[in-house]
Amino acid sequence: MSRLVVVSNRVAVPDAQSATTGGLAVALRDALQTNGGIWFGWSGKTAAHTAEQPTMTEIGPVTYATLDLGRKDYNEYYNGFANRTLWPLFHYRLDLAEFSHQNYTGYLRVNSLFADKLRPLIEDDDQVWVHDYHLIPMGRELRARGVGQAMGFFLHTPFPAMEVLLALPSHALLVESLCAYDVVGFQTENDLRAFRDYVIHEAKGEMLDDQTVRAFGRLVHTEVFPIGIERGQMEAAAEAAVEQGAARRLERTLNNRNLMIGVDRLDYSKGIPERFRSFERFMEQYPAHRGQVSMMQIAPLSRSEVPEYKAIRDQLEGLAGYINGRYGDFDWMPLHYLTKNFQRETLAGFFRLSRVGVVTPLRDGMNLVAKEYVASQDPNYPGVLVLSRFAGAARELDAALLVNPYDHDGVAAALNKGLVMSLEERRERWQSMMEKVRENSLEAWRERFLKVLRSVPTPMPVKGAR
Ligand code: G6P
Repeated sequence: MSRLVVVSNRVAVPDAQSATTGGLAVALRDALQTNGGIWFGWSGKTAAHTAEQPTMTEIGPVTYATLDLGRKDYNEYYNGFANRTLWPLFHYRLDLAEFSHQNYTGYLRVNSLFADKLRPLIEDDDQVWVHDYHLIPMGRELRARGVGQAMGFFLHTPFPAMEVLLALPSHALLVESLCAYDVVGFQTENDLRAFRDYVIHEAKGEMLDDQTVRAFGRLVHTEVFPIGIERGQMEAAAEAAVEQGAARRLERTLNNRNLMIGVDRLDYSKGIPERFRSFERFMEQYPAHRGQVSMMQIAPLSRSEVPEYKAIRDQLEGLAGYINGRYGDFDWMPLHYLTKNFQRETLAGFFRLSRVGVVTPLRDGMNLVAKEYVASQDPNYPGVLVLSRFAGAARELDAALLVNPYDHDGVAAALNKGLVMSLEERRERWQSMMEKVRENSLEAWRERFLKVLRSVPTPMPVKGAR
């Protein structure tokens, strides 16, 4: 069996002292442990200059190779092109996307530098799996340095509709770079369709069969691999957590009132201001719930150096104050807004206590919080998930109350429906969602992708090429 080389922007090197980690980090670490391998990327730290050589940390059969980023690289590559251009563009926020030649140059420079540092670590029959929008050019850079074996790429975010992508001055090179991989995976059919649309209509490529795209002189296997959550982990955590400190204390403060919960990184794609507006509409239109229900929004700070993230934080503080001022009472607060970070185990307990899970992004690749909320529920008394139709998760979790997050009246009605729904309907909807969550676990996702990566002919022959 060949080794696996994982490349992602952020690498969390496990350390005995660190808090429990979960999710993707664990799933990929497990895959690396099976046959040995390397996990390469940014250490998450900045320095005056980008490190000359990666720091190598060996833990069992896995080597973590991480680089500290210099301030210039961090600003232009991470804060700049990745998070002020690609992120908003991929989430359909052309109004927030900034197009700076300097940041684009920085993005290409860091990708090329990463390839320089990674190249000597790759052995001939390693499989290479690159993750997310920060590192799209990585495959092309590695090919240019003679890497000939199977390389896969998975996009965790949405892939935007062609008309949106065309606004990016460097769209052609970006898509050409994606075609340097042998396997390109997307979260949903929508994303895959958008990619193929671009390839066919803009790049004059073609589909050779249901999954193989021919473009830019290469053959690329394209497929949908919806990401999931760890099998059994949230269920066990939620069951344990309700008996423990934080969840117990939360339950006491609720005083038999209902709780609605939202948990998101503080990001404009998550639709938090729109959610607050919908909650306000709910208070207005369903006065019987006043004093009987609270909404808790947990929104840990994220990418705080990017101006658009500072702006949304200010906006949320204003809105939360306004709603509590308008509807709150001396013994009841409608909205609890926290930017504090909680461990996943604690959140699992909070989810289980919440009658309604509110996941209403304006656009989201998948949204694992939706799946975690479902997995955390008590099977006998499950809560109700209110889910944006624009989250990738809506494709699988179609038994949720699906909403359009821009439609405040519609979301307010769904919040009400979630609170008054019969136990029977709650159970039916939950069972249907839970089946999907179990079936398509994080482990299953990883294995499906790696199986395809193992099976593609490498490099994929270009049929009909002269
Ligand atoms: C999204 C991206 C990930 C990223 C995460 C956290 O889920 O798809 O690639 O790691 O956000 O963002 P951060 O900028 O803190 O790494």
